Amino acid sequence: MTGFKKGIVAAAAICLLALTGTAIYAGGSSESKSEETYEMVVANVLTGSHTHSMALAHFAERCDELTDGRLELTVHNDGVLGAERVVMEQVQLGSTEFTRTSAAVLTGIVPEIAVFGLPYLFDSVSQMYEALDGDLGNYFKDKLEKEGLLVLGWFDYGARSVIAKEPVRSPDDLVGKRIRVQESPLDVKTFKAFGAAPVPLPWPDQYPALDSGVIDATENSPDTLYDGRFHEVVKYLSLTEHFIQPTVLYVSKIVFERFPKDIQDAVRQAGKDAVAFVQEHQADRIEERLESLQDEGAIIVEDVNKDAFRAKAVSVYDEFLSEHAELKPFIDEIRK
Ligand code: MLT
Repeated sequence: MTGFKKGIVAAAAICLLALTGTAIYAGGSSESKSEETYEMVVANVLTGSHTHSMALAHFAERCDELTDGRLELTVHNDGVLGAERVVMEQVQLGSTEFTRTSAAVLTGIVPEIAVFGLPYLFDSVSQMYEALDGDLGNYFKDKLEKEGLLVLGWFDYGARSVIAKEPVRSPDDLVGKRIRVQESPLDVKTFKAFGAAPVPLPWPDQYPALDSGVIDATENSPDTLYDGRFHEVVKYLSLTEHFIQPTVLYVSKIVFERFPKDIQDAVRQAGKDAVAFVQEHQADRIEERLESLQDEGAIIVEDVNKDAFRAKAVSVYDEFLSEHAELKPFIDEIRK
């Protein structure tokens, strides 16, 4: 063999070795690669003092502990990495690794996850967790995984209610009112059925829209409304409690599949620990935030005619089920 040919063979062998090494690593079974370290990010639109943000901090800590420091996560709060829909797309591509978003933004890739925009679907947070820990949760985990998102856990933030310039005791009080809703077609339909003029907007656009009077109202859980500081510009928080919806903690599937098995296990465990954190703290936090809202000038309206809202919701269920008949067994099970 000439020196030139020997050189080519040696170069090919080095390339093969490199490729083989990469393949073993991607398969996640290489002991020799298990000392690899990772620095990654978690994107979040809420401020650092929201329960979900604290749960993300806990998630990052647990990833650190469970991997002996090999997976280091930095949580970026306040939407600095973009609004939720943008971040969700980044996570699909693997350019942002982890996030927590509302289920509503996921309707862009799994339309039927809009189901959580059915008003009064769940009577309680525990009923929601029961459904998500069972067949309904698995159904959406599979759908989201096919779209490149791996669900690590579902968070609750209690029931969502309307905050507005004026009290909202019945659907009549919403007629013609421009209310910000999440970017989910079913949230829009629900508020149309309630008589309002819904305006889907990303989370960060609400405060300026309320402040300038472009919209009259928004809706969310007390913890999240407080986080958004909306009570600085609209005072009446009416406890309509129309939605109990999950938010979702997920990781990019592309990224997850590159982790060795021990890191994958740690990430899944840390996800469970983050959910347990939310379940331990969220209910108390809602009570605290209701008090803080009042201390800071909000007026809580408790005498809401929920039956009148429920009556308006019937057509929303009918239309949703005509479009997504496959979800009927789940809805029947929840509402039996
Ligand atoms: C929203 O209203 O956009 C969501 O509640 C925000 C979130 O939970 O991240």
